[in-house]
Amino acid sequence: MPSLSDDLGQPGVQRAYDTVAGTYAGHFTDASAESPLDRAMVDAFAAAVTDTGDPGPVLDAGCGAGRMSRYLADRGCEVQGVDLSPGMVEMARRDHPDLGFSVASLTDLPFPDDTFAGVMVWYSAIHTPPQGQPQIFAEVARVLRPGGHLVIGLQSGQGTQDVSAAYAKFGHDIELERYLYTADEVAALAADVGLTEVARMVRRPREGERDDQAALLAQLR
Ligand SMILES: C[S@@+](CC[C@H](N)C(=O)[O-])C[C@H]1O[C@@H](n2cnc3c(N)ncnc32)[C@H](O)[C@@H]1O
Repeated sequence: MPSLSDDLGQPGVQRAYDTVAGTYAGHFTDASAESPLDRAMVDAFAAAVTDTGDPGPVLDAGCGAGRMSRYLADRGCEVQGVDLSPGMVEMARRDHPDLGFSVASLTDLPFPDDTFAGVMVWYSAIHTPPQGQPQIFAEVARVLRPGGHLVIGLQSGQGTQDVSAAYAKFGHDIELERYLYTADEVAALAADVGLTEVARMVRRPREGERDDQAALLAQLR
């Protein structure tokens, strides 16, 4: 019987990222691909988590090669990362040996309830089809402490896009697509699991980007 992971196409996503892990880690070493507006949302998230009297751990969920985990750590967060792709986790461990990384899916986070003061989902829910999104948000809400924050970043829009071509120029033959969601859709998914919108950012594409980019900051009631 196919598992939820199979239904959501996770084996294919894992295979694709395992294949490109070295290339990804070499190209995206820090947050310089993010615009100042994107970074402002992440900064607001880091401040929301660390400015409390009792800052707790932060999960970078879908951490890839760990560049945004580093960004959060540099802003005072006690961060750990998980990713579906063992290849990406290997790169994260190699490049950020002082931070903790493990293999796990957004749809099945291996942590007890109420563990984290913050969860970042930065361009990692984008490979999950619409029927998998409620499970991701349910898992985020489950592992967040009451009052904890979520920041999620994504390409904003509708439908799907093939991203295989972007890796073909590096000699990788992969099949990978991403799903676009609007900020309204993401805010509604968050609200359904008790995450109240704090702020949202939607901006037009910069050079080299195809889509609008969005980020949502939300807090668990
Ligand atoms: C575009 S990369 C972004 C990585 C990182 N957040 C960053 O900003 O550099 C997408 C990452 O999400 C991971 N991913 C995709 N689906 C996932 C899932 N269901 N659970 C965990 N990670 C997932 C991929 O393996 C990949 O490392």
